[in-house]
Amino acid sequence: MQFLTIIFSLMAYGAAAVFVFGILCKIMVYAKTPSPLKIPTTPAPTTSFGAAVRVLSEVLLFRSLYRSNKWTWLGGVVFHWAFLFVVLRHLRYFLYPLPAWDMKLQYIGIVAGIVLPIAVLYLLMRRTTVDRTVFISSLADYFALTLIFFIAGTGLMMKFYERPFMVDIKGFVYGLATFNFSAVPTDPVFLVHFTLVMILLAYFPYSKLVHAPGIFFSPTRNQADNPRERRHVNPWSPNLT
Ligand code: HEM
Repeated sequence: MQFLTIIFSLMAYGAAAVFVFGILCKIMVYAKTPSPLKIPTTPAPTTSFGAAVRVLSEVLLFRSLYRSNKWTWLGGVVFHWAFLFVVLRHLRYFLYPLPAWDMKLQYIGIVAGIVLPIAVLYLLMRRTTVDRTVFISSLADYFALTLIFFIAGTGLMMKFYERPFMVDIKGFVYGLATFNFSAVPTDPVFLVHFTLVMILLAYFPYSKLVHAPGIFFSPTRNQADNPRERRHVNPWSPNLT
């Protein structure tokens, strides 16, 4: 039992460290990468504030995906919002006392948990049936979706089928978060759920899932269309400034 707790605790800290380190490295690379050209996709906002609103509309509403393909947009938007609410519901394992706003999100979190695997199946179906998408899909695309599907599946099993003892789960997870260790619950479904989440965490920064922070650095979206008002300097040509 103690051995299992040590293994799972090390796995959790290892995955968290790989995640944080990996994301920070990626963000540093993105932030340092110069944008030699003014390339906002037009029609684009002409002010920085407008560009910020544009980026937010991509992040929250997937605006350009909506314009390009309504069905993919629907699957993508439902998947991402469901994922967000599932994660927000999970804060109850990490926080004590749980803030009132998160308490209010618990029910919608359960609904999101049911919607999530359905959205994943839809996106998988798209990847395996739409010709041009099949053509550009790689193993990594199927892997990420399948992993999330099994995380959601084992989560739902715990919710509706084989309920583990929640106090033990909170004790373990909260213990990890506050360095106040307690024994890992031995419920096999929980152990699988937890292990898959740790794999997702460690995989995230080194996969295409890193588009989550990456979108903020996309020059076609975050640049204002103001080359006539302000000269855009190519950082590779300092002598021309
Ligand atoms: C350390 C991280 C995590 C822990 C400790 C954890 C633990 C749990 C537990 C104990 C349940 C059962 C809840 C209940 O019966 O009331 C559950 C459910 C669930 N989990 Fe996780 N989970 C984690 C991360 C995730 C992540 C990242 C996802 C996203 C894909 C996820 C998806 C789900 C889903 C969809 C459910 C079913 C709906 C619900 O009860 O919220 N879990 N999880």
